[in-house]
Amino acid sequence: MKAVGQITIKRRGEIVAKWVRLCGVPEAPGPGAVTEVEVEGGVAICVANLNGELSALDNVCPHRHGPLGQGWLEGDCVVCPWHSWMFHAKTGAAEFPEGERVAVFPLKIEGGDVLVEIE
Ligand code: FES
Repeated sequence: MKAVGQITIKRRGEIVAKWVRLCGVPEAPGPGAVTEVEVEGGVAICVANLNGELSALDNVCPHRHGPLGQGWLEGDCVVCPWHSWMFHAKTGAAEFPEGERVAVFPLKIEGGDVLVEIE
């Protein structure tokens, strides 16, 4: 899935945040599903739907850089497809192993689009 647009937020001429369109709401993963979405510059984002609520996580697993968006949901966690490390879909905190985490990006739905804020 590829993103197609972005909204840049500038303050005094400096870019402070960018809301990037990930996909349309109908293309977003359904409840219990996880997918990988590529945004500008080839950066991939892991998008998970936990109980009907979408969240966007760093797609790169801190273990050996596995693609989290190619994993699956187990309970409240996204499971890495390579060695099964588990990250809470909302907080990014690892269930296993403790102390690890991935970034979670702000996400919103606007005008039928799913947007994520990246720096
Ligand atoms: S790369 Fe994700 S658990 Fe190993």
